[in-house]
Amino acid sequence: MLKIRYIALALAALASPGEAQSPASSAAQARVDSLLARMTLEEKVGQMTQLTLYPLLARGPQPRDSARIDLAKLRAAIVGRHIGSILNVHDGALTVDGWHALLRQIQDVALKETRLGIPILYGIDAVHGANYTQGATIFPHNLALAATFHRDVVRHAAEITAAETRASGIPWNFAPVLDIGRQPLWGRFYETFGEDPYLASELGRAAVIGMQRNNMLAATAKHYLGYSMPTSGHDRTPALLSERAVREYALPPFRAAVAAGVGVVMVNSGEIDGEPLHASRYWLTDVLRGELGFKGVVVSDWEDVNYLHSRHRVAANRRAAVQRAVEAGIDMSMTPYDFEFADHLLDLVRTGAISKKRVDDSVRRILALKAKVGLFDAPYPNPAGRTAFGRLEARAVASQAARESVTLLKNDGTLPLKPATRILVTGPAATSLPALYGGWTFTWQGNDTSRFQPGTPTLLDAIRRKFSSVTYVPGSSFDSIIDVAAAAAAARNADVAILVLGESAYAEGVGDVSDLTLPDAQRQLAEAIQATGVPTVLVLLQGRPRIIRRIADRSRAILMGYWPGAAGADAISDVLLGAVNPSGRLPFTYPHAPNALLTYDHKFTETFVPADSSQSGFAPEFEFGTGLSYTRFEYADLQLSHSTLNMSDTLTVEVTVRNTGERSGREVVLLFTRQHYGSLTPAVRRLRGFDSVTLMPGAAQRIRFRLLAADLAVIGRDGRAVVEPGAYDINVGGRTGTFQLRQGPAAGR
Ligand code: BGC
Repeated sequence: MLKIRYIALALAALASPGEAQSPASSAAQARVDSLLARMTLEEKVGQMTQLTLYPLLARGPQPRDSARIDLAKLRAAIVGRHIGSILNVHDGALTVDGWHALLRQIQDVALKETRLGIPILYGIDAVHGANYTQGATIFPHNLALAATFHRDVVRHAAEITAAETRASGIPWNFAPVLDIGRQPLWGRFYETFGEDPYLASELGRAAVIGMQRNNMLAATAKHYLGYSMPTSGHDRTPALLSERAVREYALPPFRAAVAAGVGVVMVNSGEIDGEPLHASRYWLTDVLRGELGFKGVVVSDWEDVNYLHSRHRVAANRRAAVQRAVEAGIDMSMTPYDFEFADHLLDLVRTGAISKKRVDDSVRRILALKAKVGLFDAPYPNPAGRTAFGRLEARAVASQAARESVTLLKNDGTLPLKPATRILVTGPAATSLPALYGGWTFTWQGNDTSRFQPGTPTLLDAIRRKFSSVTYVPGSSFDSIIDVAAAAAAARNADVAILVLGESAYAEGVGDVSDLTLPDAQRQLAEAIQATGVPTVLVLLQGRPRIIRRIADRSRAILMGYWPGAAGADAISDVLLGAVNPSGRLPFTYPHAPNALLTYDHKFTETFVPADSSQSGFAPEFEFGTGLSYTRFEYADLQLSHSTLNMSDTLTVEVTVRNTGERSGREVVLLFTRQHYGSLTPAVRRLRGFDSVTLMPGAAQRIRFRLLAADLAVIGRDGRAVVEPGAYDINVGGRTGTFQLRQGPAAGR
């Protein structure tokens, strides 16, 4: 894609990912080599050990904004046991000053009290902004960012996240999540960039480049590999995937991140087809290093080396677990509470079970990462860091991201609303900050509202600011009835009822569900309001699709807000008012029933139900890519540069997009391909390109995509990417063209 590739090149120049992929600069290299030559084995295994903050804290109550360290414990860990890395918060977000004080204390011990003075690499989950620092810019979660289909917005958000994280003194981020969202029961669905591997690859690449710009941070591509597709829907449980499926769906975003120079890869806590990833030499070494060419650090996830023994039961004891994980390719173990990993590793090397060279390889990578993020030259937090917060441009990007993510799924013309409309707002998410910010906000679960700045506006607050006649009746909480009759009575006096439903915040396995259906209390509330006959607008604040079948048809308009973060309340209320014209597109397939979990790229056989021809096997509530606007866009003059092309040719696809409505608006342009026949069953369609354009009423623009044969690759029977000759359709905005691909060697990207 011409335009896309042009942008990518410009970004590459900014972030120098080429350099990021190459060995550290020669000075850094020399420093790493010299350190390595002087390190004892104990010091080396220490570098491979990562502790969480908790065991280093003083006993008794902790201050809220900072951390009270037990210096003796800190010394025992850093001086006594030579640990190389620390992570996490003890409870919730610290102030910038709190972070600085903590990191100064840690680096003081590491630099002044150890033999070699190697700085500690501190890591944090800044997954939607620097969410563990008070005052940080909180962006929409990845699922909402994906709905923007906007690479630049994702890159900008990542740059700001990096700047604010580094300004807190922290040089390593456990983000971006590059798992694809195909299992909505799973409590981390919202952390993904949606269901499509191409979309996740493109946005993942943008996030990595933004985050690692000027080596501000080391980014982490996680969770390698197949983590997001547990068959049961439960976190950290088996994914029953063939190698072919892993390569088709799960691997591409990681390949893209490695190509963009990502510093770290974090491993999936679950398993693929019986093999825990932490024990998989095949995936961690042969594929990640051998095939993808990854040169950075592989970090385990939380306690996962131990779990090879205690949960996965592929190691008879913890020592065997360490051996298996290190042999598989783990460089650093997030132990995260004790030193057993280091003890066992030391013993394994001393007894010859693991070679010294194997340890040296890991330590070299860890030290190189420390050098790359500038820790040897600037180990302490920058006291001027505070000034990185509260910047106008950061707020502007958060606001753009939120505005472009809001997705209008249905509208019969009820929206936008006039400012004087008499509005009833009801439903639990209207007054809930966790339902606006989601998990990983100031605390892990994101549901401690005492951590938010007093006065942080809810969606109700924002609606009240923009409309003159607003009544609020809660009706129900997220899972129980409060007073549905009172809400219905209020609805009778309103012109429109805005039902704000969805989910309160959650993180990780805590958020797993075994039924996607919207909780009964919320459904009952919606049905009672709809029974009054008042027009209803459904606003969904949620981390995944909850089933709304029973209330969807009677909703006049449906807005998906996702978990849009700090600017979300404003963005959604502006969309309700028409001050913002919505342009988000659904980055996943919204199911109509709990068990109808097909994705947009399903197979042809899944589109019909043989037993009942009146039913389609694929009848989602809303398709992937759904997103309406208050204006109309028309597509015309789709042109393909070739009707028949060789594998070495470039296919140029052009289409004209025209705004034929009355408002200016942004249109996301999606390019799908469909392979007519394949050696394996082809998907009904695949997303192979996207772009966006903002047009004034009456204006038009020609959009151009460039496809190489390699962009049409699928994974064949033998697990290798293959581009198959034959007929393909191109579909952009409902316009279709067809071309024939001739046999021959394919040109790669
Ligand atoms: C999560 C990771 C996270 C790590 C550190 C784990 O439980 O799976 O995504 O980076 O904790 O907080």
